[in-house]
Amino acid sequence: MNIFEAVASRRTIRQYLDKPVPLEGIRRVLEAAQMAPSGCNFQPWEATVLTGEPLRALHEKMTKSGPQDPVEYDIMPKGIPQAYMDRLGEITAHRMAAEGIGRDDAEARMASSMRNFISFGAPVNLLTCIPRVMGPPQWSDVGMWLQTVMVLLRGEGLDSCPLESFAMHGRLIKEHIGVSDESHLFFCGMAIGYRDPDAPMNNYTRTREPLDSVVKFQGFA
Ligand SMILES: Cc1cc2nc3c(=O)[nH]c(=O)nc-3n(C[C@H](O)[C@H](O)[C@H](O)COP(=O)(O)O)c2cc1C
Repeated sequence: MNIFEAVASRRTIRQYLDKPVPLEGIRRVLEAAQMAPSGCNFQPWEATVLTGEPLRALHEKMTKSGPQDPVEYDIMPKGIPQAYMDRLGEITAHRMAAEGIGRDDAEARMASSMRNFISFGAPVNLLTCIPRVMGPPQWSDVGMWLQTVMVLLRGEGLDSCPLESFAMHGRLIKEHIGVSDESHLFFCGMAIGYRDPDAPMNNYTRTREPLDSVVKFQGFA
């Protein structure tokens, strides 16, 4: 798989096959992802990988708990302009149509959203924390590392879903994996497994802005 294919074939997968993931594959990916760049070479990502019983137990705790208060961090800051909310609305409409969920079916939408907390049936979860002392530049480093991981997973035939929804249970997760709440923020979970290629929710059209509306080119001949 070349790099363009790896990037293009990564998509958020929300239905997984019941097929275990070998530790060696995950280790190869994470070993390679250590070469991700970071400002000042801080490498501020810290992660725990769970499968089997520890993962089942975490999912059970999350599905039985309400969201934590106060929040770990603002997943969606207030005042996001409508143009961005429209982007969310557009892709969500495609996703809900693929899942056969009607616009006004609040119960089905809630049930679908609760599947976040069982990581959509993925057999492996990557749980990423960041030292509290780090700021926005380092958060972006962790984001780059996460994307590097997701693209490398494609090289192993694996799929993923980043899960910031897990931050609703950040403290519970840190307690479960033995990370200090005092020193660390929980940033993001990630579902890892093999995609169900036939599931409609893994195959809907993903919408993006046209390149020229977000990137300007200057000084080219
Ligand atoms: C940092 C991050 C966190 C995300 N958290 C969630 C999540 O909690 N639940 C979920 O279903 N999707 C989550 N997503 C997936 C996005 O919804 C998805 O990337 C976006 O809709 C574009 O679709 P695509 O990844 O299939 O191209 C997250 C994506 C990113 C980058």
